[in-house]
Amino acid sequence: MDRIRIVGGRPLQGALPISGAKNATLPLMIASLLTDRMLVLDNVPRLADVAQLQRILGNHGVDVTVSGKRSGEREYQGQTLSLSAARIVDTTAPYDLVSKMRASFWVVGPLVARMGEARVSMPGGCAIGTRPVDLLIMALQRLGAAIDIEGGYVVARAPRGLTGGDIVFPKVTVGGTHTAMMAASLARGTTVIDNAAREPEVADVAACLNKMGAHISGAGTARIVIEGVAKLDGARHSVLPDRIETGTYAMAVAMTGGDVLLEGARPELLETALDLIAEAGAGVAVTNEGIRITRNGARLAPVDVTTAPFPGFPTDLQAQLMALMCGARGTSRITETIFENRFMHVQELARLGARIHLDGETATVEGVERLTGAPVMATDLRASVSLVIAALAAEGETLVNRVYHLDRGFERLEHKLAGCGAAIERLSG
Ligand code: UD1
Repeated sequence: MDRIRIVGGRPLQGALPISGAKNATLPLMIASLLTDRMLVLDNVPRLADVAQLQRILGNHGVDVTVSGKRSGEREYQGQTLSLSAARIVDTTAPYDLVSKMRASFWVVGPLVARMGEARVSMPGGCAIGTRPVDLLIMALQRLGAAIDIEGGYVVARAPRGLTGGDIVFPKVTVGGTHTAMMAASLARGTTVIDNAAREPEVADVAACLNKMGAHISGAGTARIVIEGVAKLDGARHSVLPDRIETGTYAMAVAMTGGDVLLEGARPELLETALDLIAEAGAGVAVTNEGIRITRNGARLAPVDVTTAPFPGFPTDLQAQLMALMCGARGTSRITETIFENRFMHVQELARLGARIHLDGETATVEGVERLTGAPVMATDLRASVSLVIAALAAEGETLVNRVYHLDRGFERLEHKLAGCGAAIERLSG
């Protein structure tokens, strides 16, 4: 199993390219199931989760071709995927595939909408709490699907097609919104989704679906209206930049000090996080090329933050912010409201010398003058990268074990950080 070795204490300098968003790429790839024509996605990040979803879609009969780097392209230019679901050969998504990646459950929406049936394994529990799918099921029922749970599978049936309906989510759910939006695109009549997720990735998927001939308005707001169409066409779409990767590297620079341009980053995708980083005392400047983060000298000030659906502070940056606050001059409070059990990084950060006290959904972080390197274990995607951030500022050597979590969601992390002067390398095997 690969490990990452980091020797901390070097400021980051230079430019760091931001990849396409994982959380938009996955639903965009799934949207290919809605049409028998070709969907071409540009700026797709090279990630383990993308490769895994290729396998899952392949099982349904989707042909995926990947065009790699062409000469003259920049090193990190995303890949282009061409997805063609001309013929769906299987409407079952089996346990051994779905259990590896929760978002693959979302195939249920397009499959039942286009094929009239879908049989998708329940994703099961995962490292960050129970993560149920009840609201996704509710949304499909509102569109007329009959749902049965059989042997750990959700079986959705709509032999005469879906019909538009009103869906009110009692809780904001990104996956629920994607599923409802994709399914409603091929339903007869009008669907209104209330309390929809406003995440930029939802708007990006809606933009792509509209290029495919869907009639979706309001994506990016809490009310999305979809006029169903009988058939969707092919399209070409470029994935928006990854706001979580952007926020992660912004916090890394704020932690180590230095001066880095996050190339291609879009500030409107993460205003709350950038405001917090600025409030803590780092420099945040928007340029034509991206976002420039700077910090020289003084320790950061502590901040209090509560995670919330977009446009609030994202749960996917909670662990990274906690790492940053480990070095602040005072006490911060970080409250996690989206997922239970999303504090697994706390014990690992403590191994680096962090002082964090947990009380229910709130972590109190007492900043310390210095962290020191240690062997640590990556537990989930965002927790792992918080350990990397802390290690970049810690004195001495840190070995991060189980880095496959990082490979799921961060493209060439060690190359990007090494390119800005970090002492970081991957140890294979
Ligand atoms: C997506 C993101 C993930 C991010 C999360 C919250 C992708 C691939 N993943 O996950 O990175 O952390 O949004 O921003 O885009 N819930 C229910 N019932 C359901 C569905 C969800 O109770 O049927 C709850 C969840 O347990 C959680 C909350 O709703 O407490 C939000 O979850 P949701 O937005 O659905 O997360 P994902 O779409 O799985």
